[in-house]
Amino acid sequence: PTTVTVPATGLVLLVGVSGSGKSTFAREHFHPTEVVSSDACRAMVSGDEGDQDATADAFDLLEHWVGIRLRRGLLTVVDATNVQQRARASLVALAKRHHVLVDALVLDVGESTAAARNEARPERDFGAHVVRRQQRDLDRSRRGLRKEGFRRVHVLGPAELAAGVTIVRER
Ligand code: GTP
Ligand code: MG
Repeated sequence: PTTVTVPATGLVLLVGVSGSGKSTFAREHFHPTEVVSSDACRAMVSGDEGDQDATADAFDLLEHWVGIRLRRGLLTVVDATNVQQRARASLVALAKRHHVLVDALVLDVGESTAAARNEARPERDFGAHVVRRQQRDLDRSRRGLRKEGFRRVHVLGPAELAAGVTIVRER
């Protein structure tokens, strides 16, 4: 299995299109309280985790929640697509403000796999164009990702994900 080391008291950004398996991966590898998801934040500010009109307020809440955890020295995993550079930049800046390390963990299963999985999800009723746009954002991000301030950028493709991943918390 692939070993992924993450900062024990820092921040981890999951990065991947809808359907790439971020929430599943987070459930499998981290404690529920370590995971801060944009869906949970949307639900808390609007009553509906699919409410796209609540996005700005949801991310306000997300950053506030993450900031408190980082100040308290707690490992925090952000479960959001994070495919746009702007979205990552504000979280990297948040980690810097709290003097903690930040890693990116890219789940890279490919657009067709992600879109096919979403087809089977009643809670994701958007069309394939949404994943296509996210995939384009991710592809644009690849080259510069390592220069955005991450300590490490881990990229897990279908083979690594299928073979299994071990998370090591590094102090
Ligand atoms: P969004 O929240 O929409 O951004 O998606 P996500 O990246 O959180 O994906 P999620 O973990 O919800 O997984 C999407 C679907 O794919 C779910 O139905 C999962 O059960 C399925 N899935 C996740 N990981 C895997 C995997 O490794 N293999 C297979 N076969 N299915 C998976
Ligand atoms: Mg999810």
